[in-house]
Amino acid sequence: MQFREFLHMLQQTGQLLTVSQEVDPHLEMAALIHRLGEQPVLFQRVKGSSYPVVAGLCAQRSLLASGLGVTREELLFTLARALNNPVPPPLLATAPCQEVIEEVNLYKLPILMHLPSDGGPYVTAGIAVVKDPEFGRNVSFHRLMRLDATHFAVRLVEGRGTHAAWQKTGGDLEIAICIGNSPAVLLAAAMSPPPGVDELAIANALMPTPLVKCRTVDLEVPANAEIVLEGHITRQLVEEGPFLDLTETMDMVRRQPVVEIHCMTHRQDAYYQALLPGGLEHKLLMGLPREPTIYAEVQKVCDCVDVLLTPGGGSWLHAVVQIRKHGPDDGQLAIQAAFRGHTSVKHVLVVDDDINIYDPVELEWAVATRLQADSDVVILSNQGGSSLDPSAWHVPGEKSRTAKMGLDATIPWRKPSGELRSEEERAAFRKVRYPAVPLEKYITK
Ligand SMILES: Cc1cc2nc3c(=O)[nH]c(=O)nc-3n(C[C@H](O)[C@H](O)[C@H](O)COP(=O)(O)O)c2cc1C
Repeated sequence: MQFREFLHMLQQTGQLLTVSQEVDPHLEMAALIHRLGEQPVLFQRVKGSSYPVVAGLCAQRSLLASGLGVTREELLFTLARALNNPVPPPLLATAPCQEVIEEVNLYKLPILMHLPSDGGPYVTAGIAVVKDPEFGRNVSFHRLMRLDATHFAVRLVEGRGTHAAWQKTGGDLEIAICIGNSPAVLLAAAMSPPPGVDELAIANALMPTPLVKCRTVDLEVPANAEIVLEGHITRQLVEEGPFLDLTETMDMVRRQPVVEIHCMTHRQDAYYQALLPGGLEHKLLMGLPREPTIYAEVQKVCDCVDVLLTPGGGSWLHAVVQIRKHGPDDGQLAIQAAFRGHTSVKHVLVVDDDINIYDPVELEWAVATRLQADSDVVILSNQGGSSLDPSAWHVPGEKSRTAKMGLDATIPWRKPSGELRSEEERAAFRKVRYPAVPLEKYITK
């Protein structure tokens, strides 16, 4: 579904809360979005801006799945298929996102100031389109701190596509920032396919995503975006941050590039899309696109059933890998493969296919009844890790260092003596289930 179709569907099915009372994007709106548990919400009247704001549109797996027209269970495989089979998007001559061309004034946009401790108001749901001189188009999320009417500070994580492209061009790098995107574009932008693979072709494989040429820069953007800001990433650096990050802790202040915006286009009656930093939507969009890459690596070494990056780990640092075991060492093999599949993963938990990986109590039960710490836990020291983990070792400009741990909570095929357990002995590890009972036979309402 396109952004507006998705919004309409949420409205029609009673899933979109509409707030008609005026709300201030300066500190009030973010607190309210949080208080509402990030349910999809439309703020019709926004203090200081004529743009209505929508938030929380993709804060649940089921919402993202319905936006792509699949079930929650099909999400991982749908993403994996699109990642492996991108379809180049068509180019349109005219597009909704260019219905209005306006003089740039970033103060007119309802950019949220989320917390008093933030470095400034931040665009959080904008996706950035750039062209790498070697590999072509790259699309990714970058938070943008408003500096004045035409400038932002942009957070470019070192080594990622936009940063690499900016480093290769000795001068300024053209950028287009799109706000108000379909679930397909948001998910594709959060992926890190191999260099040269176009994220907008992945979005187009998920759902038709036609593009249009920008007005002032040599870039193409999704034709159905609500708002497009065209400009350059300059060589000038300023202090960016502090800002609440994925781990729900404050990210530090860094010297980051200034973005200059010189053209703004938008749809008639455009919506501004917001996303709560450190919230469910932020986590889900970060984590979901990594689950297929972990799955693909684990599948190379054993029979992988499902993968989940859990919200307690910021949907980034903790992976649960579900496997169908065919040999005694499959659990250990899956741990190593999961670390390869997503290098930011710090802790991996491997379980069998009888465990519901969406139920934290079942996961803990598997650890309690199937794991022995001296044989089933792998600990690795001084590994490359995530810049987002506050407890990791951070050296500016270098990959963060961390310890990693893998827990094999699958049914142990070996006894403490090393001898293999029989199938019957392994079956004794399974939960004894009570039979199903037709309640209506006993209880009448
Ligand atoms: C909501 C959200 C916000 C993000 N913010 C940033 C950011 O500010 N800077 C950054 O470099 N990456 C950020 N990311 C991560 C990148 O968008 C993501 O890792 C992307 O896959 C990078 O792709 P690339 O490796 O092809 O450049 C964010 C991701 C999400 C989902």
